[in-house]
Amino acid sequence: QEPVKAGLLGLGTVGRGVYKILRDNAANITRKVGAPVQISRVLVRDTAKKREVEIEPALLTDNIDDILDDPEIGVVVEVIGGIHPALDYVLAALERGKSVVTANKDMIALHGKELYAAAAAGGVDLLFEGSVAGGIPVIRPLKQCLAANRIQTVMGIINGTTNYMLTRMTREGCSFEHALQDAREKGYAEADPAADVEGVDAARKLAILASIAFNSRITVHDVYVEGITRITARDIAYARELNYVIKLLGIAKETADGVEVRVHPTFIPVGHPLAAVNDVFNAIFIRGDAVGETMFYGRGAGEMPTGSAVAADLMDAARNRLHHVPGLISCTCFEQKPLKPTGL
Ligand code: NDP
Ligand code: HSE
Repeated sequence: QEPVKAGLLGLGTVGRGVYKILRDNAANITRKVGAPVQISRVLVRDTAKKREVEIEPALLTDNIDDILDDPEIGVVVEVIGGIHPALDYVLAALERGKSVVTANKDMIALHGKELYAAAAAGGVDLLFEGSVAGGIPVIRPLKQCLAANRIQTVMGIINGTTNYMLTRMTREGCSFEHALQDAREKGYAEADPAADVEGVDAARKLAILASIAFNSRITVHDVYVEGITRITARDIAYARELNYVIKLLGIAKETADGVEVRVHPTFIPVGHPLAAVNDVFNAIFIRGDAVGETMFYGRGAGEMPTGSAVAADLMDAARNRLHHVPGLISCTCFEQKPLKPTGL
């Protein structure tokens, strides 16, 4: 069987994870997809840079056209991050009939509608499971397994960096700066970690989840956002004294006045399941009218957990191309719904 060829944009934390999973689990992946899935080109900024993963130098390129113009490449996996040039590359790939897999919440939260339209026009897949909560399956369950429900609430810890920092600050009395540096070294933080600590990364993810949950077009600009930059050791000690822990929560609810979307630090009673979610772990509660409460838990960031979600999307996109049904699992339509103004 001929391999399904993919172009990987980015070989940083997530790109490395995807590359390693495809290499190490090749036999298993081939069996499940029905053909080998091969990364045939990798776009990076600097082809001469020493890499943390062993890779044939001939695979590396700093020219996007080597991927976009290659007719054999059917799937583009975007893990470079940010809006530009990622958005231009992804739109160009979709317009050329290539399926796209991305972990870029920044891009999906701002330009999701436009990207969906381009994917639908090209009849190709646009998959982004890795964009929310790292390795935790949550987008597909929300879109597919819970599709029959009227979703009432989506709530949880959806940023690994800040949860890791708050855990270290609470348990060890570690300083904010030290905890952030540690999270950056572990590959959890965004290229600009202000997005993590100021709550913007969580807001992007909440916008994606809320858009799907409420079939509504919600962008990051619609989310009330407060990060953890003003949390002090005193706040943490005060919370502990009262039997609470501080967590950065993302909350999206359907109310009589419209959808309410907010991200902010919250006091959680120590006995609450979210209080036990520590380190880089994330947890998301989803309440639907039929299913009741469901909870999704796992590692919310990092090379291998995020690689796991992105590689699985790549497998789906590859399988769909193999069976000539791309676009089957990515269609979503968004109605415009009112948003409840949130001022805390
Ligand atoms: P990194 O900064 O670790 O890696 C980025 C990679 O993209 C590098 O290989 C870099 O090349 C390449 N790159 C960046 N800009 C360009 C450009 N203009 N042209 C060509 N190549 C470029 O990022 P991450 O892997 O951490 O994140 C990637 C994406 O995944 C982001 O959207 C992020 O939000 C998302 N994500 C990250 C998670 C994580 O745990 N880190 C978890 C979930 C999602 P070079 O190596 O040459 O510098
Ligand atoms: N910076 C993000 C986080 C990466 O810490 O959650 C995963 O999306």
